[in-house]
Amino acid sequence: MATAGGGGGGGSGSSDVLFKDPNQPVEIRVQDLLSRMTLPEKVAQMAQIERAVVSPTALTELSIGSVLSSGGSAPQPCASALQWADMVDAMQRCALSSRLGIPIIYSTDAVHGHNNLLHATIFPHNVGLGATRDGELARRIGVATALEVRATGIHCTFAPCVAVCRDPRWGRCYESFSEDTKIVRAMTTIVSGLQGSPPKDHLPGYPFILGSKNVIACAKHFVGDGGTHRGINEGNTNCSFQELEKIHIMPYRDCLDQGVCTIMASYSSWNDRALHSDRYLLTDILKEKLGFKGFLISDWEGIDRLTWPPGSNYRYCISASVNAGIDMIMVPHRYEKFLEDLVYLVESGEIPMSRIDDAVERILRVKFVAGLFEQPFSDRSLTSIVRCKEHLELAREAVRKSLVLLKNGKDPNKPFLPLDKNARRILVSGQHADDIGYQCGGWTITWYGGSGRTTAGTSILHAIKEAVGEKTEVTYEQHPSEDTFANKEFSFAIVIVGEVAYAEILGDRSQLNIPLGGAEVISRVASKVPTVVIVISGRPLVFKPDLMDKIDALVAAWLPGTEGSGVTDVLFGDYDFQGLLPVTWFKSVSHLPMNADHPSYDPHFPLGFGLKMGLNGN
Ligand code: GLC
Repeated sequence: MATAGGGGGGGSGSSDVLFKDPNQPVEIRVQDLLSRMTLPEKVAQMAQIERAVVSPTALTELSIGSVLSSGGSAPQPCASALQWADMVDAMQRCALSSRLGIPIIYSTDAVHGHNNLLHATIFPHNVGLGATRDGELARRIGVATALEVRATGIHCTFAPCVAVCRDPRWGRCYESFSEDTKIVRAMTTIVSGLQGSPPKDHLPGYPFILGSKNVIACAKHFVGDGGTHRGINEGNTNCSFQELEKIHIMPYRDCLDQGVCTIMASYSSWNDRALHSDRYLLTDILKEKLGFKGFLISDWEGIDRLTWPPGSNYRYCISASVNAGIDMIMVPHRYEKFLEDLVYLVESGEIPMSRIDDAVERILRVKFVAGLFEQPFSDRSLTSIVRCKEHLELAREAVRKSLVLLKNGKDPNKPFLPLDKNARRILVSGQHADDIGYQCGGWTITWYGGSGRTTAGTSILHAIKEAVGEKTEVTYEQHPSEDTFANKEFSFAIVIVGEVAYAEILGDRSQLNIPLGGAEVISRVASKVPTVVIVISGRPLVFKPDLMDKIDALVAAWLPGTEGSGVTDVLFGDYDFQGLLPVTWFKSVSHLPMNADHPSYDPHFPLGFGLKMGLNGN
């Protein structure tokens, strides 16, 4: 096999034990180490377990291969970067004390910044990045995210999600860059940001030597997760293989071209075939046809869901998934049972040793190219990079570029935006005006996010107060009443409404009206004062014609993250809008799925729509 990027993971010195010699080619090190491993050590490397169940025994005696933090699973509440690094390093020391001293990979979902870390820089979720169409921006965000992840000693992120979301009723729509495969493909450059750019002679599909400030990326969820019927999470994607390839598989080719080290299998099914046990897609297509040489990981208890009740026939779950091509299993809790059953299945011949060796080779290959044998511990010099000025400015730039202007003035010849920074009195309303949690959405500090001041950041209200002139009065009324307008004249109002935070199935919706009484707040304010509405949401929401007629301007801000100042930078005209819809803004959920390539395409605003204010006459 061609080497995965030539020599070992750097580092000085050599050793008569080949796998310990960083100057040896990666494939030599892989084969040497594999040849020294027992069956129990091999199957333990195929297990990824949750932080909460880790013990020194699991790492030192059993040689478990990987640990993860699920959404919100921190060493302790409000853990600092240093406390994260202490935890990961302590686990690593246990792993290095095992018989062969194989280091662990520690993984987390850093899907819009290092969102498990309190006070990390939180970038716009993928749907907002899709609105920018800016692949270089995505790459830069990957670089910044990798640094903040490495600052906590963590080696791998379960990102990017390269789903092509075809129905916004899906609770993970905001994790998708777009409904359009071409836009998703353009944004996969985040892989090169996270892992570093591949060398010139890189062979597609091969992991390559990563730098000490890079992380292992994980393209997910293979494949067709965004194409399920009615957007049902973990549902069924019904289409021909040609459609599956054209719409959903293509972004993985771009990730393989960039040397993505890992790929995660999807919970969903294709034509009623569960992805986690589909050998044709996982092995024949991904590994053989597309040449993927990293490792394929299951989703959380993904193999359990191959039976009902989940895991009821666990040996079948293990056998079906491993034989289909899954290399590492995100167990995540009952790992003793997993190890016992997997050893049994190999010894009984139900899983051939060649399949185990293939899986472990892939896992070791990633560990060698990630430099874990030479640099197993955290780099404490990175701690100060968390939420550093450069990262905050990058996040603010991303917010600016993600905003999509859908309406600007009741009369197109009289644009409403930009707003006057020196207006006499501004009314700010809506439940999303001063809420960092809502701004960030799901996968932030906890699995499904929250509301209020969940982490450090600048709310849009705070940004407005910072942006306006000192003589301008800003009145904040979350739910304005008649008294709000009594004897007070406002120059204009900014109403910020949208969705609560959610993740996965918690976000599946059959209706997509503006939640939390947002439409009523808009109507009440807009009937009194000229009004711009800002929507904070993971997807388009229904704006009925009479409501749309009442407002003077409408901005889609998606889930912008912690840097709310990016919104006011554009609202008050320091920058123009440049965002374009990454998804169809539909008229009614009864029209869904409504994608641009549909014959009867009848959107409220089409894919690619986005107005400009025309600053400086342009
Ligand atoms: C979740 C998600 C997946 C995530 C994993 C680990 O269920 O499906 O995207 O990476 O579990 O948190």
